[in-house]
Amino acid sequence: MKRRDFIKQTAIGAAGVLALTNQVRAAGNSLEAYLSERSDMSLADRITSEGLWREVSKHFNPTDDFINLEYGYFSPATLETLEQEISATRMVNARAAQYFRQEMSGDVERVRTELADIAGVSAEEVCITRNTTESLNIVINGLDMAPGDEIVYTNQDYGSMLEALRMKASRYGIVLKQVDIPMHPNSDEEIVKRYEEAITPRTKLLHMTHMYNLSGQVIPVRKICDMGHRHGIESAVDAAHTFAHLDYQIPDLNCAYFGASLHKWLCSPVGLGILYVRKDKINDMWPLLGDVASDKDDIRKLEHLGTRPVQQIIALSEAIRFHRVIGSELKEARLRYLSSRWMDQFRGHDRVVLNTPAEPARHGALGNVGIRGVDSKELARFFHERHNIFTTEKSIPDLFTGVRVTPGIPTPVKHVDRFVEALSDAAEKLG
Ligand SMILES: Cc1ncc(COP(=O)(O)O)c(C=O)c1O
Repeated sequence: MKRRDFIKQTAIGAAGVLALTNQVRAAGNSLEAYLSERSDMSLADRITSEGLWREVSKHFNPTDDFINLEYGYFSPATLETLEQEISATRMVNARAAQYFRQEMSGDVERVRTELADIAGVSAEEVCITRNTTESLNIVINGLDMAPGDEIVYTNQDYGSMLEALRMKASRYGIVLKQVDIPMHPNSDEEIVKRYEEAITPRTKLLHMTHMYNLSGQVIPVRKICDMGHRHGIESAVDAAHTFAHLDYQIPDLNCAYFGASLHKWLCSPVGLGILYVRKDKINDMWPLLGDVASDKDDIRKLEHLGTRPVQQIIALSEAIRFHRVIGSELKEARLRYLSSRWMDQFRGHDRVVLNTPAEPARHGALGNVGIRGVDSKELARFFHERHNIFTTEKSIPDLFTGVRVTPGIPTPVKHVDRFVEALSDAAEKLG
């Protein structure tokens, strides 16, 4: 039996898997069929067509126990991707060492190429990692720097990256230069200027987060990277929240280093990330896990991990296929439509404070909201206990306090509207 047939045939096993398989069959290729029957539908109509998004949501399996508005943590995989992962798990366990020794690298290389393709870069510049944390740790720890060299970063960068930067500082005597990013900037240039003002002759790297996980703010990464190049400095971009969420490809950012999680907006199996290193920069990087056998300019030296759950990588292929069916342009527009739908109703409200910029280009699906005089943990609890809506408290001491609200690809408009009612209720009853 051919390996690919095996993946198909072994998909039906335990009762849970059978139920899943039936759901997958029911969903079938309905989304492709739906879209191709409506190929003349305008982008504006696609964004708002609940019929279309119902078709999309048939490919997911969200619980109806509660309303999930915390897709910022991760996005569940589609039923097809899940089934692919389960089938591949069976296949790997059946074919065992022979698969690992003789067949695995063919699958990994095929998926690396598919991933590189949606990212708009060469497969020779892409590693499949476990998440953004790993990708950016490879970059931060992999660059040679001397005591006194400097890295510029911001007050809102993600905690794990701050840990990696601080460890590098205390281990090698690197100096960290923090830049404070305004919540509601007047222009891109205001942000670029803050980065530029932190640059000195010792600056070796600009570290930045494309979309902040706490506020949802998108910063002008391309302009910062261009500015860095004028000073001869490269940039590392934490794109955990923008890859397969905003409509761009890596070269559009003009960065040398880029890391993202695939289990957020690409809906891959949990535990996958992407690392991009521009070809001319690979040679000088040290792998996180020892590897001197690979050629120094081979990106695979950075992926050295040992035995790993390759079934996730096999299933990544299906997640990429599904992403292509929706398309980046529509995905970004729909997600922003959902978040703007609730946020725009509360701009200027006397008690509700939005900790996310209003301009469409400065945000995507993530929004952060607080209520004056109300503890944000209590607010998140109120949404959960009174309205059965799951969100998460996300605050930065001395900067803002709020609850992060993140609709996802399977979110129907009615869930967003339920949140509007919940927030209005909170503004009336709490504090
Ligand atoms: C901006 C940002 N960077 C990095 C991460 C870490 O992602 P992961 O846990 O997948 O490594 C997150 C997670 O939410 C994030 O929001």
